[in-house]
Amino acid sequence: RFERIWLVGSLLLIALFVATVTYGAVGAGYGMVDAEGGQVDGTDPTASENVREPGVYNGSEDGHYDVYVETQRFLFVPGTNEPIRVPANSTVTFHVTSRDVLHGFEIVGTNINTMTVPGQKAMVTAEFDEPAEYGIVCNEYCGSGHHTMEGSLQVV
Ligand code: CUA
Repeated sequence: RFERIWLVGSLLLIALFVATVTYGAVGAGYGMVDAEGGQVDGTDPTASENVREPGVYNGSEDGHYDVYVETQRFLFVPGTNEPIRVPANSTVTFHVTSRDVLHGFEIVGTNINTMTVPGQKAMVTAEFDEPAEYGIVCNEYCGSGHHTMEGSLQVV
């Protein structure tokens, strides 16, 4: 009789695990912006900005810049062939997505460090007070050229 209770209990526990994992997967997707211009979950009135070309945009007059970066084997666009340039005393939001596989976007010496995911946009914001030059590296293994995938950010 007790065995039966344990069996039912175990099955309930397994069902709970499955539910938790499912919820976690769906929950993690919530609010992630679809790089194609929509949003994975819900609606976003500003979604049209997601289809911007890679580059630097002056978002407003108060020193806020939006930098759109795309990653692909084994480049940051912009970043690798041309440095990303932003002015000192600015707040910069990086909008990062991938054109092919998972990559990383880490600006060495800052707290900017995110994964770049095809079809999703990661947003990270940092302030840059002083002129400086930072290296950008990929920290997700993405193939034979992974270790060569580098770029730079110039605060001028
Ligand atoms: Cu891109 Cu490693």
